[in-house]
Amino acid sequence: MSDVKELIDGMNEDLAAEYQAVIMYRTYASLVTGPYRREIRSFFESEIPDELGHAAFLADKIVALGGTPVTQSGPVPIPRTNREMLEVALQAEVDTIERYTKRIEQAEALGELSVKLQLENLVVDESSHRDDLRRMLMDWRE
Ligand SMILES: [Fe+2]
Ligand SMILES: [Fe+2]
Repeated sequence: MSDVKELIDGMNEDLAAEYQAVIMYRTYASLVTGPYRREIRSFFESEIPDELGHAAFLADKIVALGGTPVTQSGPVPIPRTNREMLEVALQAEVDTIERYTKRIEQAEALGELSVKLQLENLVVDESSHRDDLRRMLMDWRE
């Protein structure tokens, strides 16, 4: 049986991961090299506003539920190649979808239907990030 405190703690974990995603995409956009630099850089940069929007939703909702939003990001690994950057980003998106799926169940159990619906919208965004990354890696030759 989940309670509000548990939901807030979980959403704070999600918030730290969204800040981590912002720093990850911003850093990787700067680190990317080679002939596809411009394209991959634009792709990474295009993710940032989505992740920031997710962080804003989570921080606002944590406060509305009576909690305090975290201000620490999770750690961001520094890969050596473009391919590794895409792989790290893909894994982060997959993990995020898994966390939100659990969070949706917690919100539903508490009767927090608007939180549940918003989290479902986040899953739609993260799934599209995941699918883009998967498709980029699928045709990677090196
Ligand atoms: Fe996100
Ligand atoms: Fe994402």
